[in-house]
Amino acid sequence: MKIAVVLGTRPEIIKMAPIIDEIIKRKIDLTILHTGQHYDEEMSDNFFRDLEIPAPDYNIHVGSGSHAKQTALMMEGIEGVLMDEKPDIVLVQGDTNAVLAGSLVASKLHIAIGHVESGLRSFDMTMPEEVNRRVCDVTSTMYFIPTEQSAINLLAEGYSRTNLFITGNTVVDACFRHLEIAKKRGFDEESLASLDIDNMDNILTLTMHRAENVDIKSRVINIIDAIKELNDMNVIFPIHPRTKKTLQDFGLFDELNNLKHVHIIKPLGYLDFLQLTSKSTLILTDSGGLQEEAITLNVPALTLRYNTERPETVTAGGNILVGSDKDVILENAKKILNDKEFAEKMKNAPNPYGQGNSAKLTVDAIQNYFDEGLLDIKAPEDIMSSFERKMALIDENVSVKEFEDKNNASIHMIFDGEKMRFPADDLKLKGMCVTYDEYK
Ligand code: UD1
Ligand code: UDP
Repeated sequence: MKIAVVLGTRPEIIKMAPIIDEIIKRKIDLTILHTGQHYDEEMSDNFFRDLEIPAPDYNIHVGSGSHAKQTALMMEGIEGVLMDEKPDIVLVQGDTNAVLAGSLVASKLHIAIGHVESGLRSFDMTMPEEVNRRVCDVTSTMYFIPTEQSAINLLAEGYSRTNLFITGNTVVDACFRHLEIAKKRGFDEESLASLDIDNMDNILTLTMHRAENVDIKSRVINIIDAIKELNDMNVIFPIHPRTKKTLQDFGLFDELNNLKHVHIIKPLGYLDFLQLTSKSTLILTDSGGLQEEAITLNVPALTLRYNTERPETVTAGGNILVGSDKDVILENAKKILNDKEFAEKMKNAPNPYGQGNSAKLTVDAIQNYFDEGLLDIKAPEDIMSSFERKMALIDENVSVKEFEDKNNASIHMIFDGEKMRFPADDLKLKGMCVTYDEYK
């Protein structure tokens, strides 16, 4: 079996690293293709080093550009590599342009696609990431899904549950594995040299890079105004290159940088960043990965967004959506800083993203599909010419499996009166739906 991994940005390198490790450990043939979307050393190479994964076999150096240009260049480059390498499956992770390009190209070449971190939905179609992840899901063969909630999103869109694998999120694997290594090693970055982080109280780690925040001046100003007032915190801000550029363009960089309690530093390597976040009292972010890492590391998070495709973190109690509203940011930050009981509750929120064995579960499933011949894309003669789906209200005193066996049908979703649920084989169906009488 040959697996190709397509990645292009910092979070993809971090979250694919545990899977790459697992593939190598099992001596499966592997090709790593970097699109080159992130190219600065501190946004790319440092992560291959810190996470101890091999350098990419290919880098197609697409660099920065508009969405269309970036995606088109990626598609052309990825196509050439996949035609030469002929992998059995292409793995993409998350929701970046590499995911869009990789999945479109692989599907046209009739190569199976495994979408790692599939099923997330913000329902916000202004986000390029929402478009990317939805398109990728349409083309995928295997879906590696972090939580039951995300599986329900896919079921509700009509995906067959046979190809859905709830694996947890590989970010937990990366966090658990590297935090101890990081602590033993200590800080390594020049950018931290001027800061005595080990002796700092009240660290607030700030990251932001979302287009809908940093490209809109009024939103950036609101966030900066809130940060100005949090002057009893040590705000450490490893700045994303996109954000540095827009803050400079808006003429806001110096104002923020000159605040005594704010320390703007270059993006950190993974080992340094894990140490920083795990020592933090509070994380203020619009990052997807950081919402997951905060709850994994038991640090309260305030998310600078109005919606999230990680609603489990909010429901669990570890994350609050504060948008870019100065008053809401301040109100919640102060509550966490001043109300110990509230802060403890946030810290102790249960982690919904698994036990740190996501990579193993993912590669197990791929190996199994390969062995069973399920990665082969079906030829036209093997596809039913007429396929009909039906809606059914079921209120029988049987399990899902019993119902499916008896009716030669598969159940995709169960509505328990409040929400759609992922059907387990042994789930009893009685009472799991609204009956017609109740519905009337
Ligand atoms: C991309 C992803 C986003 C992800 C983020 C992770 C898409 C659509 N967006 O956003 O989902 O959350 O990566 O960080 O795929 N730049 C540099 N050096 C670099 C990379 C970028 O200076 O190594 C600057 C360039 O000015 C560039 C800007 O950052 O124009 C934005 O980079 P880009 O990769 O287009 O988007 P991100 O905001 O990084
Ligand atoms: N990260 C890092 N150094 C930094 C900032 C972030 O190593 O200076 C890591 C962080 O631990 C997380 C990932 O980068 O795993 C998140 O990346 P980003 O916020 O760029 O993207 P997103 O997750 O929003 O797609």
